[in-house]
Amino acid sequence: IPGERKLALRCSDRHLVVRGSTERYGRYTLSCRGPMALKMFQYYGYNGYLSDRLSMDRPIPDYRPEGCKNMSYPSNLPQVSIVFIFVNEALSVIVRSIHSAMNRTPRHLLKEIILVDDNSNNDELKEKLQDFVKETNAKQPGFIKMVRHSKQEGLIRSRVSGWRAASAPVVALFDAHVEFNTGWAEPILQRIKEDRTRIISPSFDNIKYDTFEIEEYPLSAQGFDWELWCRYLNPPKSWWNLNNSSAPIRSPALIGCFVVDREYFAEIGLLDEGMEIYGGENVELGVRVRNYIILSRNTFARIAHIERDSGIDIGDIAERKALRKKLQCKTFRWYLVNIYPEMRMYTDTIAYGVLRNSLKTDLCLDQGPDTDNIPILYLCHGMSPQNVYYTSTQQLFVGVLSPTIDDDDNKCLVDVNGRPRLIECSYAVAKRMKLHWRFTQGGSIQNTKSKRCLELMENNDNEFGYQLTLQKCTGQNWTITNMLPGSTL
Ligand SMILES: *[C@@H]1O[C@H](CO)[C@@H](O)[C@H](O)[C@H]1NC(C)=O
Ligand SMILES: *[C@@H]1O[C@H](CO)[C@@H](O)[C@H](O)[C@H]1NC(C)=O
Ligand SMILES: *[C@@H]1O[C@H](CO)[C@@H](O)[C@H](O)[C@H]1NC(C)=O
Ligand SMILES: *[C@@H]1O[C@H](CO)[C@@H](O)[C@H](O)[C@H]1NC(C)=O
Repeated sequence: IPGERKLALRCSDRHLVVRGSTERYGRYTLSCRGPMALKMFQYYGYNGYLSDRLSMDRPIPDYRPEGCKNMSYPSNLPQVSIVFIFVNEALSVIVRSIHSAMNRTPRHLLKEIILVDDNSNNDELKEKLQDFVKETNAKQPGFIKMVRHSKQEGLIRSRVSGWRAASAPVVALFDAHVEFNTGWAEPILQRIKEDRTRIISPSFDNIKYDTFEIEEYPLSAQGFDWELWCRYLNPPKSWWNLNNSSAPIRSPALIGCFVVDREYFAEIGLLDEGMEIYGGENVELGVRVRNYIILSRNTFARIAHIERDSGIDIGDIAERKALRKKLQCKTFRWYLVNIYPEMRMYTDTIAYGVLRNSLKTDLCLDQGPDTDNIPILYLCHGMSPQNVYYTSTQQLFVGVLSPTIDDDDNKCLVDVNGRPRLIECSYAVAKRMKLHWRFTQGGSIQNTKSKRCLELMENNDNEFGYQLTLQKCTGQNWTITNMLPGSTL
C-alpha cells in the first residue's frame, strides 16, 4: 500500500487474513484463523466455517422503525414467489436464507421459493441441497422449485430464469445470502397491490462477512456512482420533510434485490440479458421504470452506442433499442435532472483517464494514501486512485469522482506554495487557490496563476526514481488516456 508503514505481524500458528478494498487505500481488516476456516473464508469470501455452526433459524434483531411495528395490513395481499440465485454459495447460507423467508413471511403470502443455481461446482450444492429440497417438499409439495443452469449464465440471466419459473403474481428477486426480518413482506406487497408499476426494494441491514453479526444500516435510497457501482444514498429531502421514518423512500435505482409485479416486469422488458457484469441491471431497471433509456454496464459503451457509434463490441442491442422506442423512453439527461438530481453531472469534462509523463510512461499520477492530500507517482494500474478528469474550466480532478451532491466534493490538483496538493474543489475555489491548469494533450500541465509546471524530478530515495514536483517549466509532456469527442485538447 503506497505510503503506508510496513508492519510486522504475528499470528502464532494460524493464518493471517487481510481483507479490504484493493482500490481505495486504508480500509483493511486483519484476522487470524485456522487452516479449515481459512480455506472456507477464501473460497466463499465470507466466514463459511462460522455459518455452518450457526442455527438455520437464528433470531436476528428487529431494526424496523417504531412506526412499522404497529402497522396492520389487509389479509388479501397478493402472493409472492421468492427467487434466490447463487453460484458456489455455502449451503448453510442458502438454507438460512430459505428458512428465514419461510419463518418470517406469512404462510398464505409465500407461494413458493425458486432456487436458481448458476452452474455451481461446489459438491454440497448438489446432493445435499437436493436432499434439503426433497425434505421440504415432502411436507409442502412443490414448494421449492430448483432451476439449474448447465453453464454459467451470470447474475442477470439467472434472475430472468428465476422469474420464468415463478407463478405468483409478485416476484421477489434476491441473492441467496440474506436473512429476512419480521414483517418484510407485507408493506411491499401492499404497495405493489396499490400500484403494480412500483418496483420495491426492502430496507437492508448488513450481515457482517466475518462474524455474521447483523449491523444496522441507516434508512437509505439506492443509486449508483459514475463507475456504475451501486451505492446507498441519503434519502431525498422530500422524505425527510415528512418526518416519518416508516414512509417509503423514493429511490432512483435498485441495488440487487427487489420485488416486482410478475407481469409488469415482462411489460417493461425484464432485465437486459445482454449484460454480463454484476451491477448494471439495477441501474438499467431504475432508469427504465421511470421511463428512460436502455442503459447497461457493458459499461457506458451501450449508452454511448445509442447516442453515437462507439465502435466497441457490446453485443446486439437492437431489441433493447426497439423496447426503448416502444416504451417511449426519455433521455439519460432527463433522468438525471428529474429522477436522480442528487447525481453530479460532469458535462464540462473534456478528458479523462490516467496521466502519464513522457519521461517515465509506466508511472501515473495517483492520489496517494487517503490519509493525506499529497498526490504521488505510482505504477499505472488505472483504478480509481489514478482517475484524472480535466474540465473545460481548467480544473484537474484526481481520484474517484464524487457521485452525488451529498458526498465529499472532488479533489482538485492545487499549487499550494509551490507544492502539488489535492484539495476539495469547492474549498479551493472559495479560497481562491491556484487550481486552474493549462493542459494540452502531449504537452505541459501549467498552473495559470503561478505559471509553475507539474513535472517529474529525479529522486533516488524514491522507489520509482522520480517524484512529483511543481517547478519552472522545463518542457515535460503529459498524456491523458481519453479525450471526449469534440474536445480540442
Ligand atoms: C399500536 O396500535 C394499537 C392498536 O392498533 C394502538 O392502540 C396503539 O396506541 C399503537 N401504538 C403506537 C405506539 O402507535
Ligand atoms: C417529528 O416527529 C416526532 C414524533 O414522531 C415529533 O416528536 C417531532 O416533533 C416531529 N418533528 C417535526 C419537525 O415535526
Ligand atoms: C407514515 O408513513 C406511513 C407509510 O406511508 C403511513 O401509513 C403513516 O400514516 C404515516 N404516519 C404519519 C404520522 O403520517
Ligand atoms: C514535449 O513536446 C514538445 C512538442 O511536441 C517537444 O518539442 C519536446 O521535446 C517534448 N519534451 C519532452 C521532454 O519530451
